[in-house]
Amino acid sequence: MTISIICTNKDPLPWVTALKELDSSLDIQIWPNEGRKTDVEFALCWNHPEGVLREYPNLRCICSMGAGIDHLFNDAFFPKELPVIRIVDPLLAQSMFEYICTAVMYYFRDLDIYKIQQYQSNWKQQPPKSIAHTTIGIMGLGNLGKFSANKLLDFGFNVIGWSRTQKSINGVKSYAGDEALGEFLSQASILICLLPLTNETRGILNLETFNRLPLGACLVNVGRGEHLIDEDLITALNKGLLRGACLDVFREEPLAAQHPFWRHNKILLTPHCSSITDPMSVAPQIVENYRLMKSGQPLMNQVNPLRGY
Ligand code: NAP
Ligand code: GLV
Repeated sequence: MTISIICTNKDPLPWVTALKELDSSLDIQIWPNEGRKTDVEFALCWNHPEGVLREYPNLRCICSMGAGIDHLFNDAFFPKELPVIRIVDPLLAQSMFEYICTAVMYYFRDLDIYKIQQYQSNWKQQPPKSIAHTTIGIMGLGNLGKFSANKLLDFGFNVIGWSRTQKSINGVKSYAGDEALGEFLSQASILICLLPLTNETRGILNLETFNRLPLGACLVNVGRGEHLIDEDLITALNKGLLRGACLDVFREEPLAAQHPFWRHNKILLTPHCSSITDPMSVAPQIVENYRLMKSGQPLMNQVNPLRGY
């Protein structure tokens, strides 16, 4: 029985170390240098090459190396009959919160404006704002969204959330479904996208969405690049509909050198680093799922293939 690590833009070695530290008897191999493909029963994947999962006739489970699983379902030849599991990890949620908190504070304390003023040698104080009167809207109240919502609430922000189903999170007003999206957006002066990428959410950050936000709202996209219509963001920023955007994820990664986002003065961008899975932190759940798979028991953190997340 073999675990194969199949990834194209992650270093697999820290994962081997973390898994072996927990159970030295595990047979872990690294794509494309596995021994016999027939031995592989469990695949740990991040941006695997399309079609490659069909090469393992005895594969029984596919595990994402992160929270998102869109990179798996993007594969036209994905073996849909197999269970898919993903990472749910407190450290991942904490790390995402740290990034979101930084971006929120950047806009709340007007650092984007002061940065521009600095280049103009312009000494001008912006009017003070009240944290309690600043509404943060979080799209996606799952494992990551709920954690950040609670933490931002502790800071004193007014936090609202939008999800597919209604949530009950103390202090956070919950909006659910397409019919509630408009009311949710109309209040969010800082909009955070923490949705999974599905057929329903692809392109959700578009001009119509930006028009429904309060004038001069800010966007933080930590979901996926395909949530955003790039041209619509540029239009919204240039027209002043949006004040600024902090982007961590992109349609094409790495972002092409000639992409206009790099040089737009109202965009702050980072290289998909808001929350990177720590192999040491998640190794226990992977080993546990491997054992559950071997003993035919229900797996943890299993994805619903019909919902797509
Ligand atoms: P999750 O626990 O599955 O939560 C997803 C949330 O989105 C749920 O609240 C869900 O609603 C909501 N949702 C899904 N489809 C929706 C729709 N059509 N309309 C409204 N709400 C919808 O996922 P997670 O662990 O929080 O992760 C979220 C995403 O963050 C990942 O999929 C990944 O794309 C991204 N991420 C990015 C980074 C990074 O470094 N940039 C790191 C980790 C994760 P229900 O609860 O009602 O089902
Ligand atoms: C990172 O993007 C993840 O999905 O964990």
